[in-house]
Amino acid sequence: MKVNVERSLLWTATGAFVLFAIGAVLTTIVPPLVSKDMQVSQYPLHEYTEQELRGIEIYKREGCVYCHTQQIRHLESDQKRYGWRLVDAAVSDSWEYVNDKDNFLGTKRTGPDLARVGGKYSSEWHWAHFKDPRNMGEKFPNRKGIYERASIMPSFAYLSDEEIKDLTAYIQTLGRNKNWRVDENGVPLNDYEK
Ligand code: HEC
Repeated sequence: MKVNVERSLLWTATGAFVLFAIGAVLTTIVPPLVSKDMQVSQYPLHEYTEQELRGIEIYKREGCVYCHTQQIRHLESDQKRYGWRLVDAAVSDSWEYVNDKDNFLGTKRTGPDLARVGGKYSSEWHWAHFKDPRNMGEKFPNRKGIYERASIMPSFAYLSDEEIKDLTAYIQTLGRNKNWRVDENGVPLNDYEK
């Protein structure tokens, strides 16, 4: 019997499932078998404090992941854009996330990537930024020459003071598992908050 594959729902569904299964196996089952770094880190990792864990819950609850990713990709543009004091940001490695129970890698880059933002600003800066992001940073003229606010980030002024402190404590840990802010002689560069 000749099967008209294109017209058969069964063949189409089976084909789609097989393709999906290949993708699923290659991206979820094979990587941990190939790289043990995905479950156990051989490097010293930051252990989250109680306060930082509360910050993670707030990050999750407030949906920061809808606008921010947390992964520096193998793209020069990522490394340059999220670097610090002319030092390129290090590419994110799987072992850096071993202690993360929740995954904030994200896919939506409305705002900047936050994978290496810890230590980039002082905690006071974050305080002011969460209270009124629209009032931060430089304002630049648009095509009509009218000055616009630099940021489109929504305000989180409705968070309690304690919540902002917890959130900031968590943000300051981001990207610290790698000691990437060093000058060409390997000397660590001045960081905002330890
Ligand atoms: C609607 C999208 C949106 C949401 C939701 C959002 N942000 Fe942002 N965020 C932005 C944009 C756009 C910027 C860049 C402009 C700026 O610096 O304010 C930004 C900037 C930042 C920066 C500064 C990054 C840098 O390298 O300069 C931090 C830190 C930050 N956001 C943290 C957060 C946290 C934490 C949350 C959740 C409580 C959050 N954002 C929620 C859009 C968003």
